[in-house]
Order: sequence, then C-alpha cells, then structure tokens
Amino acid sequence: MKFASKTYISVLFFGFSLILVDAISESFSEELLIKPLPTGHVYSFFQFTTKWDVDPGETKLQHYNLFPRSIGEIIQKHSLRELHLSLTQSLWRTQKWGYPVRFAGPGAEVFATFQPHLNNDEVDGAWIDLVNSLSGLFCSSFNFVTLTNTIQPIWTFSPEGLNLGGTNASHQRYANLPREIVCTENLTPWKKLLPCESHSGLGELLNAKNMYDSSYHSLALDLRPICRDKKCQESSLELKLSLSLVSEPTVLHGNTYHGINADWSFKSIYGAHLFSSCPRATLSKVYIDITSNITSTTHWNLRPDPAAVVVNQRGGSATHLSVYDLNEVSPWPINVRASYTKKLSYGIIPPPLIHATRFQLLAGHGQAKGKLVTRIHNNYYSNDIDIVFLELVPWYCRVFLHTLAFSNSKNKPVAIDIPQKLYFRPGLDRQRPNHLELRLTLPANSVTEIEWEFQKGFLKWTEYPPDAHRGFDLGPAVISALLPVARNWTGIPRHVSTFDESWNVSQSGYFVRVHTETLVVAMATPDFSMPYNVICLACTVVALAFGPLYNLTTKRLVVKESSGGGGGGLISKLKSVLGKKNSNPVEEEVAAAPKEKVLATKKKDD
Ligand SMILES: *[C@@H]1O[C@H](CO)[C@@H](O)[C@H](O)[C@H]1NC(C)=O
Ligand SMILES: *[C@@H]1O[C@H](CO)[C@@H](O)[C@H](O)[C@H]1NC(C)=O
Ligand SMILES: *[C@@H]1O[C@H](CO)[C@@H](O)[C@H](O)[C@H]1NC(C)=O
Ligand SMILES: *[C@@H]1O[C@H](CO)[C@@H](O)[C@H](O)[C@H]1NC(C)=O
Repeated sequence: MKFASKTYISVLFFGFSLILVDAISESFSEELLIKPLPTGHVYSFFQFTTKWDVDPGETKLQHYNLFPRSIGEIIQKHSLRELHLSLTQSLWRTQKWGYPVRFAGPGAEVFATFQPHLNNDEVDGAWIDLVNSLSGLFCSSFNFVTLTNTIQPIWTFSPEGLNLGGTNASHQRYANLPREIVCTENLTPWKKLLPCESHSGLGELLNAKNMYDSSYHSLALDLRPICRDKKCQESSLELKLSLSLVSEPTVLHGNTYHGINADWSFKSIYGAHLFSSCPRATLSKVYIDITSNITSTTHWNLRPDPAAVVVNQRGGSATHLSVYDLNEVSPWPINVRASYTKKLSYGIIPPPLIHATRFQLLAGHGQAKGKLVTRIHNNYYSNDIDIVFLELVPWYCRVFLHTLAFSNSKNKPVAIDIPQKLYFRPGLDRQRPNHLELRLTLPANSVTEIEWEFQKGFLKWTEYPPDAHRGFDLGPAVISALLPVARNWTGIPRHVSTFDESWNVSQSGYFVRVHTETLVVAMATPDFSMPYNVICLACTVVALAFGPLYNLTTKRLVVKESSGGGGGGLISKLKSVLGKKNSNPVEEEVAAAPKEKVLATKKKDD
C-alpha cells in the first residue's frame, strides 16, 4: 500500500516535470577559453550562456528554472529588449594583447535597447529605473547614471541580437562611469546568477582573491534575443554572463632561480583545482589556445592530455585549440598545467590591425582650455578601413566643434562629408553631455589623429565629488570597425552563442570595438579648506571670548566679611583655643573696614 502510493506520487511528479520541461525549454552551457598572450600574460574568458525558449516580447515571464529570476523581472519591469553591461578594472591593452572576446571600456558601461512601444520620455523614465535596479542587483554605482551622462548612440552601439524590428536610436541608451571601482562585492552577486553558482562547474574557479590579483578584470552581462533554431521562425532569449581575466604568471611565481617562469596552471591562476562540472550544463568545456606553441619556437606542454585538438579556420587565420570536455573527465579533480620547455623571451609583438590611444594637451595659455587628441593606427598595409568614432564628453568640458581637426601621418585626406558622416549633439549645462559620432575612412598603413578643444566649465561647490583635487574622469573614446580579416580576433560571430558552435564559421567582416584610455581633467577647484579654516578661527575666537564674558556677566565680586569679636566661627574658636598663633594680618585689616560693604560689579559688555 505504502509502496503503491510512493510509486503513484513519483509517477505524478515525473509526469508533472515532463510537462514543465515541455512547456519551456532552457539550456545552459559553461565554457572557458584560455589564451596565452604574446606578453607572457594569460587571458582567461569564462562564458556562461543560458538560452530560454520564450518569446522575447513576452510580458509575463514565469517558471524560472535555469534563467535567473532577478534578470527576468528586470526585463519585464523595464520593457527591455537588450541589455549589455560591464564592470571592468583597468584597460585592455589592444596593442599588446590583440582583441578580447568581449569588448569593454574601463569602469562601468551600460547599453540598453527598450521595447518599441515606449516613446522617448517613457524610455528615459525606464532607463533611470533600470540603472537603479542594476545598481541594487550588482552592488555597483550604476545609480550615478543620470540623463546628464546618458546618450542615444546612433552608429557605434546598435542592437546585437536578432533584429525584431520597430526600434531605432530613440530606444537606445548608453552611459559609462569611468571612475567605478570593481571589487568583490560586484563579483558575489554576479556569481549568484549562475545556475550552479560557485558550488560546481567552472564557477568553482572564480575565487575573489585571485580574480582581483590580476592585470585586467572584467565582468559582463549580455542579454539579447536570438533565433530559436536554424530556420529562425521563432526567437528565444539569450543571457550570457562572462568574465575576462588577464593574469601574469611571471609575477605570480615571483622571481625564480631560472629566470622568467611563464608556467601556469588552474591552481596558480585561479587558486583552485576544478572538482566537478556543473550538472545542469549541457555543454561544459575548456579550450586552450595552443597556436603560439605551433607558430613560435618556444614550446610548451599541457598536462593532462586534452581530449581533442580543433583547428579553427576563419578570416585568413588559423587557431589551434586543445579541448577538455568536462562531462567526460574521469579522474576528478583536474588541474590543467602548462609548462614551458625553455625560458620565455619577449620580442617585438606585431600589433593588431586597429588600435588607438588618447591623450590630453593644454591649449592656449593657462589651464582653462584643453585639447583631446585621439591617435588611431591602421596597420593594414593594403586597405583603407572604415571606422565609427564615438566620444562622450561631460557637459562641464565645453567642446568646440569648429576646432575639430584631422591629420594623417601619410598626409592623406581623411574623408568626412558633413552631415551624413558626422553627428554632434552639443551638451547642455546640467542636462546632457556632448555627443560626437564620426564615420571616417582610415587610409591604409597610417596613423590618424582626431583632435578638438574644450573649455573647462565652473561647477557649483556642491557638484564636486569627494577628493575633488584628483580631477574629473572622462570616459574612453570608442572606435568600432569591421575588419576584413580575423587576425588577432578572438570573438564569437554574432549569430552563434557558444565557442563550440563557432569553429570555422566565416563572416564577411570581423567586428571590433576599441576603447581608449580614460582621461583625468583637472578642473578649477575651490579651496575646500577655506570654510574649514574660517569655522576653526571663528570658533576659537568665540570660545576664547566666552569664558571671560560669562564670568563678568554672571559672577558677583563679594568682599568676605570677617567675623570680629562676638559671633565667631569654628575657625576663630579653634584659633583662640590654639592660642592665636597664626593670625592673618589681611583678615584683620578687612575686619577693620566698615561692615556690610559689598562690592558688586555688573559690567555690561559692548
Ligand atoms: C597578431 O597576430 C599575429 C599573426 O597571427 C601575431 O604574430 C601577433 O603576435 C598578434 N599580435 C597580438 C598583439 O596578439
Ligand atoms: C523612431 O521611432 C519612433 C516610433 O517608434 C518615431 O516616432 C521616431 O520618429 C523614430 N525616429 C527616427 C529617427 O526614425
Ligand atoms: C607544442 O609543440 C611540441 C613540439 O611540436 C609538442 O611536443 C607539444 O605537445 C605541443 N604542446 C601542446 C600544448 O600542444
Ligand atoms: C575547420 O576547417 C579546417 C580546414 O578547412 C579543418 O581542417 C578543421 O577540421 C575544421 N575545424 C572544425 C572544428 O570543423
């Protein structure tokens, strides 16, 4: 009887779960790509992809299984179509490291596309609500994003997922916070969004101590609609959580006896062995880029042996990767180790096709004006490359469009015909930033400089941040391009989701987005110590004056009357008993004075 009811319940439960699985299908995959960089650094890219087969326009999302509920609620509440955000510490050095898998500027960056049924004002409202939700979700300062530092990007940022139509630039918002510091309190809530958190699978390798002991670190979240299958008649939601890390094994090992030791292992870069794969993941793989072993003369070995080696051929370059399938690893735990057969030597590193740098110069006399200069390299020897250049300058740096100038190392003209290729929306004080976007053609094998001048505005004293003398941060300039070849390109083509699907997928162009350095502008700063000095001085004067004045106004000066002859206090009795040995002459003198004489002074202060 008991047995029967148990079976019945389990059959019921099974049936129920089958219905659930049928109704909404979700899949999760975890991947890790490790690429040794030409500078001796090691680049690790963790990617956790959740695909959920629901209609992205769905207004009532329910039955969360693998997809994080907090993200689902944000999508619904703020009518989101796409969301891309990143929290990054330090700058990706494109010139030395090539291109990352996911592009991110220093500090915090957020880009969102909203549903087409919202009008411009509703989008503004939803955007402000969204950044406040995100700030709570990630324990970050996204709430410092306001309309004064938000733009509507035209060409640089565009929806990355399936084009469901209906939206244009007025549904997009972008903002960056270059001063944001990324730390453990951002990593912890981010890890909570993973189906296996950090209990099993690749999440186990995300130890805060080692993550923040690195040269570059970036957390990202990307949400977009994608095709449900090859036929693409229905769409699904894709959530991609990724973490990039650049570690420096040569530094982690310290100074060894045998010169530079570039060996690395899971244990040395993540501080842990891998104990399991995530049981909820359908795909769980580790890829190690071994191209440098094949192309250079410095060889290295991997232990344990990989399950397979794939060759990824695309855009005129081949990448060789060792693959570990975590669902088929037999002896747990594993600790993948790379050991070099000889000392590493560093030479000149051929730079990637496009990279850029930005700096600031003083303009004119004095410190009131400055000049922003961006230098963009096109290292492609044969072809011109079209780029889009975006600059977001805060309102308090008033830029002058008429000073915008271009120069080229080959003295070739840089073509710009206004207004099809130039978009400029001037800033308004305390309302919106300056927004410039340019479409230019960089001549082959040359360096192009874009410069313009700005004037520093004056702020109200309450508008200065703490530590105002450090200066104000200007976010990076962003350069986007579609490269004809895939040299130094590590990304995933847009129409696929995982690395596993991306091998040998060719494209007509390889999209890159280069973020330049952030700048610090020294603004005219009031002497914040002055009010303090004034307060100190005033308080001291008041305190010094108070004592004497208080005494003078409240105390009475009374001449004490000595009890002569008859009455006599205890003291005089004692004295008489002791034989009047030490009688006080002063007391006698006062006693001789007329009785009842009171000296009362009441002085009025003025
Ligand atoms: C770019 O690719 C070339 C050829 O594959 C390689 O020699 C070079 O080291 C790479 N540069 C960077 C910065 O990764
Ligand atoms: C964008 O779309 C809205 C309606 O969705 C429309 O009112 C607006 O004119 C469009 N803007 C542009 C620049 O096409
Ligand atoms: C690197 O190349 C050497 C020599 O060709 C080979 O023995 C070694 O297995 C390779 N290492 C990897 C990680 O493939
Ligand atoms: C990609 O193409 C190359 C050559 O065309 C082939 O050798 C390789 O096996 C292919 N890789 C995969 C993963 O299919």
